[in-house]
Amino acid sequence: MHLQSTTFMTFSPGGKTKTIMETVARHCQCRSFSVNLLPHQDPLRRQFESEELLVTGFPVYSGRMPSPLVKRLAYIKGNRSPAVVIATYGNHFYGDALLEMADFLSSRGFVVIGGAAFIGRHAVFPDIAEDRPNASDLKRASAFAQTLEAKINRLDHPDNGAVLLPGHHPYQKAKRFPAVPTSTKDCRICGVCAINCPVQAIPRDAPDKTDRDKCIACTTCIVHCPYHCRQFKKRDLFLIHKKAVKTTRVILSPETWL
Ligand SMILES: Cc1cc2nc3c(=O)[nH]c(=O)nc-3n(C[C@H](O)[C@H](O)[C@H](O)COP(=O)(O)O)c2cc1C
Ligand code: SF4
Ligand code: SF4
Repeated sequence: MHLQSTTFMTFSPGGKTKTIMETVARHCQCRSFSVNLLPHQDPLRRQFESEELLVTGFPVYSGRMPSPLVKRLAYIKGNRSPAVVIATYGNHFYGDALLEMADFLSSRGFVVIGGAAFIGRHAVFPDIAEDRPNASDLKRASAFAQTLEAKINRLDHPDNGAVLLPGHHPYQKAKRFPAVPTSTKDCRICGVCAINCPVQAIPRDAPDKTDRDKCIACTTCIVHCPYHCRQFKKRDLFLIHKKAVKTTRVILSPETWL
């Protein structure tokens, strides 16, 4: 197969998925595009031809893919076009996230020909997987990109390169993260966090508030606050952190499916 283009679509509040995606993209030999899926925007409307590759990258949230992606990607369409699914997770578990995205893309006319799960620093608890992705992970990401390219060169049609990604049906129940970030008393009501929130959980006219029903705890607002005054309350995180540290003691390695 001779690829006409590759499009990298990335959702990465904490930047670790972005690091992996950029490493993979560096090996891309054809014309490439990059789409940031993070900002709250109208759904993308893009039709892919059979020789246009789509690579999606996102973090795992409670064993699932981030819910805003369903809306954002609702109108992309493939024509038996090849697709690759890359998930990063905080050294605990990726659950059904890869399978969920693979099913989603298949339902829109794509053929999933590859997948990968990489470890990334935990966006809420930076002491978990704090140095990931490390040099060895990035080497694996480069090797993944090279093997993917070789596979695509060998293929006559994406249908002949389909892979099954791990996960179970029905998917595990989507669980709400038990805490949300709020503003500290130093908040200057500048609104930067509200503009950047992917699900509009921060009212533009009252950016010191958080809509707990909408918030997905992605940490984008914390990353973007220029005054470092958006954070989780320590007492809200105490018990969750204790449990998370316990369940992430074994150091996991990246996995790939090609
Ligand atoms: C709300 C939330 C839920 C998460 N759930 C999981 C999980 O189920 N398993 C896991 O291993 N890591 C989990 N993590 C950690 C992220 O998957 C990990 O930090 C990822 O590398 C973040 O990617 P990013 O830096 O591109 O945002 C979660 C993080 C957040 C913010
Ligand atoms: S970005 Fe920070 S200072 Fe600005 S409104 Fe949000 S929390 Fe307040
Ligand atoms: S308010 Fe919640 S959903 Fe919005 S950016 Fe902050 S953590 Fe993410």
